[in-house]
Amino acid sequence: MNIKDHINKLKVILNKHNIDYYVKDNPSISDSEYDTLLKELENLESKNSQFITSDSPTQRIGGKALNEFKTITHRLPMQSLANAMNQGELENFNNQISKRLNLNNIEYVGEPKLDGVAVELVYEEGKFMYGSTRGDGVLGEDITQNLKTIKAVPLSLNTTTIPNILEVRGEVFINHDDFKLLNKHRLDNGESPFSNPRNCAAGSLRQLDPKITMLRPLRIYCYAPGVLDGISFKTQKDFLDYLPELGFPVNPHIKIGKGLKFLKEYYHEAEGLRKKINYDIDGVVFQSNLYPLQETLGIRREAPRWAIA
Ligand code: IVH
Repeated sequence: MNIKDHINKLKVILNKHNIDYYVKDNPSISDSEYDTLLKELENLESKNSQFITSDSPTQRIGGKALNEFKTITHRLPMQSLANAMNQGELENFNNQISKRLNLNNIEYVGEPKLDGVAVELVYEEGKFMYGSTRGDGVLGEDITQNLKTIKAVPLSLNTTTIPNILEVRGEVFINHDDFKLLNKHRLDNGESPFSNPRNCAAGSLRQLDPKITMLRPLRIYCYAPGVLDGISFKTQKDFLDYLPELGFPVNPHIKIGKGLKFLKEYYHEAEGLRKKINYDIDGVVFQSNLYPLQETLGIRREAPRWAIA
């Protein structure tokens, strides 16, 4: 095998292992086996730098420290969500939608509301180009280098039918086990512990030096589209089902169902889930599943009428 093919083969293998680990939650090799393959790739690339591509797993740690973050304008604003604080408000949400659409038994998708940091990942021609924080919803900070250090963020899309533009939104978080371990190491080294996983995730993404971010056990679950060009979906469920095929991790506890009955059932289920899962959630998010219905419902006070937290 020539060197270029050897490098490509290693990239494909490492990529597959990333997907097994972060997307399928089903690791097929040990961490040390992964590191050995990565070292092999690093060695080959260092002697043959003409074959280094921006989506190589070795490039996750390439970035230099910045003086400041650039500002990024989201092509599509990142909206906030209206809240329902009790059962009555949830009923209200469902009634309003039914009334506006003149339709009963609306289909909803229920998702855990992750208590992390909202980010946007932008892919052009299948390659990760840049990523940003939500910011004020219109302007965010360019945290591309930091997002690249997160192994669960694909650097290129795992598909042969490549969309021109694919923007994916999600939540960066740290799970409880990783957080405890991180704080233990900090205490052992005489450093002050982080107060909670959310603050730690936010602080880690705000580091100007990606070498610090790289040391933090950040994860991501993706949940919403931004601008799409050359790819389209009819429902939120279709979108969520397709994300893992492209290489994006999606929360496994997402469910679909109809009407107020589903909204109540899923909410209660999530209460139980909250005690079992390895990360913080601060509620659930419901949205109407059909994208054409979302379009019809539109936005009110900067929050979509078709979704609620
Ligand atoms: S859906 C416009 N799904 O909630 C609605 N948001 O989005 C599209 N959040 O600050 C967003 N988990 O960080 C959605 N499963 C989830 C979520 C989620 C957390 C947060 C997000 C943002 C706020 C509003």
